[in-house]
Amino acid sequence: MRIAVLASGRGSNLQALIENVENGFIPAEIALVVSDKLEAPALDRAFQHGIERAVFTDKDFPGREIFDRELAGFIKAKNIDLVCLAGFMRILGTDFVRTFPNRIINIHPSLLPSFPGLNAQKQALEYGVKYSGCTVHFVDEGMDTGPIIGQRTVPVFENDTVESLSGRILEQEHELYPLVVRQIALGNVHVNGRIVSIKGGNSCA
Ligand code: GRF
Repeated sequence: MRIAVLASGRGSNLQALIENVENGFIPAEIALVVSDKLEAPALDRAFQHGIERAVFTDKDFPGREIFDRELAGFIKAKNIDLVCLAGFMRILGTDFVRTFPNRIINIHPSLLPSFPGLNAQKQALEYGVKYSGCTVHFVDEGMDTGPIIGQRTVPVFENDTVESLSGRILEQEHELYPLVVRQIALGNVHVNGRIVSIKGGNSCA
């Protein structure tokens, strides 16, 4: 299985995926890293591990539709089987999503369907929830609305800040994302409408 990771920033989830490919936990290859930000540290991480990199910026492709079409074509031409969004700060349009049906996944730092969109950890703190977490889901045409593959929970403490809660969630992200990608690579993940089943039980919890 050939994976493309799309990342706009820090790339710690990309790093977790790279390490789990290199140690054999994920039976797949990260064939491509794409960023929409030239300065993204994620691109340096890809370089360190000898992974092909590409940058698609708004400047190069004016208009969302052209951007999406060009990016989809580029990824398709690389024979990619799975697109992993890892802190990719753009919404991918209908054409992109339809080019890779049930082949795009995302990690989000809340227990979806609560707190989709930006600043999920801040939203959770301000709402006053006692538990939050992270979710890996298939990407559909909505904002963080696709079928849920796996989730991890963390407690929220009274003295939490956005930083402390984000850090606690991130630790779980770095375990959950590789686990889900491994199950997909093994062919164990099936989608029926909104319901995702994983052969062998709910082994992404
Ligand atoms: C993570 O919190 C992820 O859940 C969200 O964006 C952040 C990306 O972090 N989608 P990193 O770039 O992987 O370190």
